[in-house]
Amino acid sequence: MTTTDTWDPATYDRFKAERTQPFLDLLALLAPFPSAPRVVDLGCGTGELTRLLHDRIGAARTLGIDRSPAMLAEAGPRAVDEPGHHLSFALGDLAAWDGEGEGEDTDLVLANAALHWVPDHPGVLARWTAALAPGGQLAVQVPANADHPSHTLIAELVTEEPFVSALTAPVDPDPVAVNVLRPEQYAELLGDLGYEAQHVRLQVYAHHLAGTAAVADWTAGTTMTRVRAVLPADLLPEFDARYRARLVAVLGDRQPYLYPFKRILFWGRRPS
Ligand SMILES: C[S@@+](CC[C@H](N)C(=O)[O-])C[C@H]1O[C@@H](n2cnc3c(N)ncnc32)[C@H](O)[C@@H]1O
Repeated sequence: MTTTDTWDPATYDRFKAERTQPFLDLLALLAPFPSAPRVVDLGCGTGELTRLLHDRIGAARTLGIDRSPAMLAEAGPRAVDEPGHHLSFALGDLAAWDGEGEGEDTDLVLANAALHWVPDHPGVLARWTAALAPGGQLAVQVPANADHPSHTLIAELVTEEPFVSALTAPVDPDPVAVNVLRPEQYAELLGDLGYEAQHVRLQVYAHHLAGTAAVADWTAGTTMTRVRAVLPADLLPEFDARYRARLVAVLGDRQPYLYPFKRILFWGRRPS
């Protein structure tokens, strides 16, 4: 992927409240832990939600892993070094993570809004599962909104001039479109991986935006990172203007605009 460090913490944080709710819904799926758990948060980003998780469940140790140095730079100050409650952050690839080198098993593997960036979810989830202690839990949230015009219009625009001729490399495909499975496939996968209890659901989040064109502000922090990585900066304003106009043409000029955003939340617990 070319998106390794096109993450901009400030842009991503613009819709903090909307992005926090699915995380809280994911936490609500967790079963109580018999003792202070050992946690890994894969694709932890700025670490703000990692810290919330760490504090809320009273984790013994939490490790946040991300592959973006810019995100980790924000996360660093959120580390905790108290006796019995250690939170740290490290550079790493969630696709390859298998718990090797952690020194001990993990009681919770959590990934919020991050797994969709990598392919082969059966393989990745098998590696994460292998790192779980008996009774360990897995909690994952992925967007599932690739079929909304907010995303399909970006795919359309990059095939148009003057953008297509100016690209410095092919635009990576929308990771949600190519990587995210259907909810029932995650349910089957959790069954195949031996989870004794599970919960899988598709949830539609209603995001209240000022108007239709504001959808472009939302995608600026996520899916547009793929375009910014390969489109010369001087063409970005024109791309943004055409994108906003196309959104209004397709979705109507609505003010406010209710942006429906589908997400898949899934949770599983290993046999004790
Ligand atoms: C949408 S942000 C979510 C951050 C955080 N989990 C949250 O909920 O606020 C996605 C994060 O996944 C990270 N990421 C994407 N692919 C990754 C990979 N292969 N390995 C590690 N981190 C990755 C990005 O750098 C980014 O910080």
